[in-house]
Amino acid sequence: MLDGKKTLFSGMQATGTLQLGNYLGALKNWVDLGDEYQCFYSVVDMHSITVRQNPAELRKKARALLTLYIAAGLDPEKNCIYYQSHVSGHAELSWILSCFTYMGELNRMTQFKDKASKNADNINAGLFTYPVLMAADILLYQADVVPVGSDQKQHLEITRDIAERFNGVYGDVFTVPEPYIGKTGARIMSLQDPTKKMSKSDENPNASIYLMDDPDTIIRKFKRAVTDSDNEIRYSEDKPGISNLIDIYGAATGKSIEETEKEFASSGYGDFKLAVGEAVVDLLKPTQDRYAELVKDKACIDKIIKVNGEKADYYAKKTLRKVQKKIGFPERIR
Ligand code: TRP
Repeated sequence: MLDGKKTLFSGMQATGTLQLGNYLGALKNWVDLGDEYQCFYSVVDMHSITVRQNPAELRKKARALLTLYIAAGLDPEKNCIYYQSHVSGHAELSWILSCFTYMGELNRMTQFKDKASKNADNINAGLFTYPVLMAADILLYQADVVPVGSDQKQHLEITRDIAERFNGVYGDVFTVPEPYIGKTGARIMSLQDPTKKMSKSDENPNASIYLMDDPDTIIRKFKRAVTDSDNEIRYSEDKPGISNLIDIYGAATGKSIEETEKEFASSGYGDFKLAVGEAVVDLLKPTQDRYAELVKDKACIDKIIKVNGEKADYYAKKTLRKVQKKIGFPERIR
């Protein structure tokens, strides 16, 4: 609880380019949460180095993501938007928590197994302890709720286990976080393989709509979207491509499946794809325009980074000092 509100924490990696799935599934929904929750949104650059990064690229992408948070409508006065690496408490708490996490638990993490198989030449210890750092992110701010996608559920579970284990030994130190169950965002699938989630790490650029794609590119990608060939705009399990487009259209316009089916009852795929493309162009335009304005104002973004980083650090230190005391680290002499 902060200022009478429950606390919410979430983070995103700056690697890969944010796409429509991230926007509709996460970012867009975050905008409304600020009234109800005290929100922390971190650009988790420390998680990013578990796979090798180009330094200049990482810096650029981290800043772009932070700017995009704001462009998408997250008010930096209401939401704490900051870089994970600017708050040293993440690393400090992560070390402590790693001493309360079992190898066997980490061994069971499906994301580790998946990433290890994809990075066979660099299975580093950070990749293995990734969930511990994520637990530190969440517990550092005593978060009550964490909005996470299905791929991160297991990491939230282990966070809860670590918090409960720690509390079991030292008393009620950490708030045990719950998954945020709210208006769930649409689950957006790849435009090239609609049985797969749209992913920012997909190598085929035609599979994803990136948030910064220009209107022509967006329309072209929708025109090329993979669909079946019966030319009927109907939501059905055996029509994953068209169903995905109906979902996207619905998320962009607020129209229900039935409304969309009715609206396009006498249209072919070509017209429908164009309409979906245009709806997405309209949806993204305000964010794109604001982004273009924001990047011009370096001083403004710098100030947000400084002020919010300090604010996050303040709350992080509060928890960290409490934890350090509980486990018996010597007191600081002032
Ligand atoms: N691991 C998350 C992802 O890749 C990002 C993340 C890091 C996160 N720390 C977090 C998400 C804390 C929620 C809460 O999507």
